[in-house]
Amino acid sequence: NYYAILMAGGVGSRFWPVSTNSFPKQFHDMLGTGETLIQKTFNRLGKLIPKENIFILTNEKYNDLVFEQLPGVTQRQVLLEPAMRNTAPCILYASLKIQKENPDAVMIVAPSDHWIEDETTFIDNVQQCFDACEQNDMLTTLGIKPTFPNTGYGYIKFEKESEGDIKKVAQFTEKPDYDTAKQFLATGSYLWNAGIFIWSAKSITKAFAQYQEKMTALFSDGISSYNTDDEIPFINENYGEAENISIDYAILEKAPNVHVLPVSFDWNDLGTWGSLYSKLDKDENQNAVVNADTYTVDANNNIIRTEGKKVVVVDGISDYIIVDRDDVLLIYPKSKEQDIKKIRSAVQDKFGDD
Ligand code: GDD
Ligand code: MG
Repeated sequence: NYYAILMAGGVGSRFWPVSTNSFPKQFHDMLGTGETLIQKTFNRLGKLIPKENIFILTNEKYNDLVFEQLPGVTQRQVLLEPAMRNTAPCILYASLKIQKENPDAVMIVAPSDHWIEDETTFIDNVQQCFDACEQNDMLTTLGIKPTFPNTGYGYIKFEKESEGDIKKVAQFTEKPDYDTAKQFLATGSYLWNAGIFIWSAKSITKAFAQYQEKMTALFSDGISSYNTDDEIPFINENYGEAENISIDYAILEKAPNVHVLPVSFDWNDLGTWGSLYSKLDKDENQNAVVNADTYTVDANNNIIRTEGKKVVVVDGISDYIIVDRDDVLLIYPKSKEQDIKKIRSAVQDKFGDD
């Protein structure tokens, strides 16, 4: 009864110029390990979930990338979205489909672009949540001990005294502003939402029916009663009508039966060049280099990624992101990494799609 929804439809705009509209970060070997992020995630989930039960949710334009990178998956497992509507609509679509296939299904919903080193602990934690969700009507997420007031994450206040490892969530706050995040951190009773969810098909479709009535009305008949041949035209016609909203705002901030399992494995959501830098091997001057040999003089703490270069020479530059793609070169201070999203869209406006 184990299933997975692998979300792979984001654009990863802060990883421009490597991550682009036509080739986003989850399909790149960002870590330089020989595997792309989606391949790593697929194989990690495959340790617990039968591979044929891992559904990949992505935009229709990434269909070919999915089949190239995950040989062995079948069209049944690849659900294509005709429009970008964030994570709530794609999770509802996949959950209804899985529920139709197996009404007793329990599933993990996971992003395709995270770094998790300790896979054994991760799998044990997910197994624990599967067991709980098979028995109870609950929505579960994995919670990470926060280290700084990151405003890009969801924050979870949990009931420390509740019994067992999996705690009841008192309050879920998606992406608070900086001051709120700081206050949350100071109390010591908040966790970061890892964005990895575990629930039964029954529980999540029930929560959608209650808190996202319109979206449920849009999808449920079409998916539950159509066979696969009719479902695709149905989705193509209706998907774009769904509200553009993430699962965090759509369900987790609202439902009363949200739970969290505090976890201890090292986790990184690989959202920015800086977060990638922290996970890469460094040379003696703390430069992290992907895809080339470097010769550095008076250059420290840089992240350097090139394509098709044998050697890169850097002198007199420190704390920079240096990224070379065939037709774009980015040299940008690490301290301004959040602005790359804006730079990317400014460049797009001026020079056309990336
Ligand atoms: N299929 C599909 N369709 N996938 C999508 C879409 C979509 O329209 N939009 C985003 N995704 C995928 C992304 O590729 C990523 O793997 C995952 O869904 C989460 O989306 P993000 O856009 O990266 O979300 P976020 O980082 O802003 O926030 C979420 O993750 C944080 C942890 O990394 C939230 O769940 C936060 O609460 C959480 O802390
Ligand atoms: Mg993210």
